[in-house]
Amino acid sequence: MDVKNNTIDALNQPDFFEGMIPRKTTSAQAEKLEDGEVNPFTNKPFSKKYKTILQGRRKLPVHDQRENFLSLIQSSQFVVLVGETGSGKTTQIPQYLVYNELSHLKGKQIACTQPRRVAAMSVAQRVADEMDVVLGQEVGYNIRFEDFTSPKTFLKYMTDGMLLREAMSDHTLSRYSAIVLDEAHERTLSTDILMGLLKEICKTRKDLQVIIMSATLDAGKFQKYFNDAPLLNVPGRTFPVEVFYTSEAEKDYVEAAIRTVLQIHSNEPEGDILVFLTGEEEIETACREIKWEGEDLMRQNKCGPLMVVPLYSTLSPVAQQKIFAAAPVGRPGGPPGRKIVVSTNIAETSLTIDGIVYVIDPGLSKQKVYNPRIRIESLLVSPISKASAQQRAGRAGRTRPGKAYRLYTETAFDEELLEQTYPEIMRSNLGNVVLQLKQLGINDLVRFDFMDPPAPETLMRALELLNYLGALEDDTSMTKTGRLMAAFPLDPQLSKMLIESPNHKCSNEILTITALISVPPIFVRPRGAEKPADAAKAKFVHQDGDHLTLLNAFLEYKKNERNPQWCRKNFINERSMKSAVNVRKQLLRVMEKKGLAITSVMGNNRFYSTIIRKAICSGYFMQVAHREPSGHYATLKDNQPVVLHPSSSIKSKPEWILYDEIVLTSRTYIRTCVEVNVDWLFEGTSDYYTDLSSFPNCDGKRALEQVIKYRKRSGDRKKKI
Ligand code: CDP
Ligand code: MG
Repeated sequence: MDVKNNTIDALNQPDFFEGMIPRKTTSAQAEKLEDGEVNPFTNKPFSKKYKTILQGRRKLPVHDQRENFLSLIQSSQFVVLVGETGSGKTTQIPQYLVYNELSHLKGKQIACTQPRRVAAMSVAQRVADEMDVVLGQEVGYNIRFEDFTSPKTFLKYMTDGMLLREAMSDHTLSRYSAIVLDEAHERTLSTDILMGLLKEICKTRKDLQVIIMSATLDAGKFQKYFNDAPLLNVPGRTFPVEVFYTSEAEKDYVEAAIRTVLQIHSNEPEGDILVFLTGEEEIETACREIKWEGEDLMRQNKCGPLMVVPLYSTLSPVAQQKIFAAAPVGRPGGPPGRKIVVSTNIAETSLTIDGIVYVIDPGLSKQKVYNPRIRIESLLVSPISKASAQQRAGRAGRTRPGKAYRLYTETAFDEELLEQTYPEIMRSNLGNVVLQLKQLGINDLVRFDFMDPPAPETLMRALELLNYLGALEDDTSMTKTGRLMAAFPLDPQLSKMLIESPNHKCSNEILTITALISVPPIFVRPRGAEKPADAAKAKFVHQDGDHLTLLNAFLEYKKNERNPQWCRKNFINERSMKSAVNVRKQLLRVMEKKGLAITSVMGNNRFYSTIIRKAICSGYFMQVAHREPSGHYATLKDNQPVVLHPSSSIKSKPEWILYDEIVLTSRTYIRTCVEVNVDWLFEGTSDYYTDLSSFPNCDGKRALEQVIKYRKRSGDRKKKI
């Protein structure tokens, strides 16, 4: 930054903020600036659009509380703020802080965290519009692998995970003057840790302002945790919502949801529909079917025009913006036009879509489940809580009275749904978090002030994993390897594999593989086009396994990057590929910064497949399945029966298979796998396989014992020679 120019700029600029004392401002002072003709942050005249939006903002429920909010934060370091979804918390509160903190004058920032990337991006865009600035300049966002900020940025929306990551290099979060933890009721792993961390940091940083915000929640618990913080309850302006249940349980909830949409569209008065489903594939299928059948009904004049929009986290930002478009208009006097949003639970509280009058709720969402006994963490479609069901129904009553259709029985609601879902910290593998906490200098995890402490067994498993990976000493202090691993925003197995790859002289390939594993799937297999999709994939298949297949596809993509048709023709998800390229670039930067050598084996060594697989073993040696005499596979560490995922490139039935993840659906699959040689498991630095006494008594263990015996004998022989 050119300091001299800045000074001149500052001298030329009228001092908009004259007379305002940071943290002693009033809402009248701020509103005077907002109502002015010139944007005090850019010194440019306000646009027409700005003024229109401003009128809307002044009608939001939080606006009525602006003065109250200011007086609370001016007298307390922690403030808890609770309000209905759509009342203006996420978009307005950080702006109120901007005018009160005046952080931009002292080179500080205000952060507002979001559990979801989509919300961080979309809200940042909205707030940039509201403040009449260019996104990425004064207002920006920061999510994993994407930093859309500039030196000018003073208001930043970011995922909670990113803020946690920043704390690792800046232990006191010194660049922030205020931090808003939004959507605290979601109790994500990162938000929970941040709460504990901020509580600690605030003991020494008395100048740091912290706001905890959420939709309706047990505010008392948060207030108590934050040293009896004051509460601001923003009264909502909601309309009554009539709730309907089905008389019997639905067998196929997707089908039931589609049917309900079409019924509403043909029979009910004007108003948009929001449908909650659980994941991308399901949502895309539902959208297609609603469109087909809706258009059919329209041709028969049984309903008005409809616009169907999907909403899930891997959607491109442009596609995400479509949820805010206006509904199509019906013929005068004819049936109404309608917008239908089919969404994951992103739309439950993190994004507000105006105009929704009908909500369809099958009562399910994908939730993280961790079983420390068998060490499996997976996303499972599970029943939501009563609190979630209430939130979902509430989305129908934002602008006028609405209706919520629950696709389950009232008895199921009363008797089967939990009041609240358990915090994520109780359902997660904590490997990553423990490493981060250690890097943050928090050594005694048992004494860490968690709002709800994780199960001791889960903590133990995490420490054990990190110890085997060489990240922690036996006394759980951090090793050099551990510190290196913590520099990467990745799961411990992945970062370990990456930092070991230079020793195998294949870091270039492992970088690519790591990037590909970290993004949404690159191979697409649309319903109805499975055959051509499989044929296209066959060209990339490497018989030794999926990591190598991914690598092949990436290399071909790079050769054809400029060919706009290539991805579509080859059934490759272009957005995933592009983000893999981006992720790779960023990981490469960290590798270079840490002085890790970048070398390739492909093209240089015909044994490249073996070398790459050995490198994968260096991080994933604990995730191996063994073929039993019956022909079925079982995981080595837990003797858990598993099935090779049908999408795998491995078509033979090798004795040992290394897997990236376990997927629980109707069966327990292992996905993204490579064939390995059992000897490679012993070649790493870890002593995981030297003592098998804690392994379950299974066929794989016996096979390993044989190998150990054999290796010992041949080792003894070698020594004699
Ligand atoms: O955080 P909370 O749910 O309380 O509300 P918000 O996200 O701040 O949204 C407040 C209002 O801003 C919404 O009701 C919308 O009217 C508007 N908004 C919008 O028009 N477009 C967006 N992308 C986000 C918000
Ligand atoms: Mg919000």
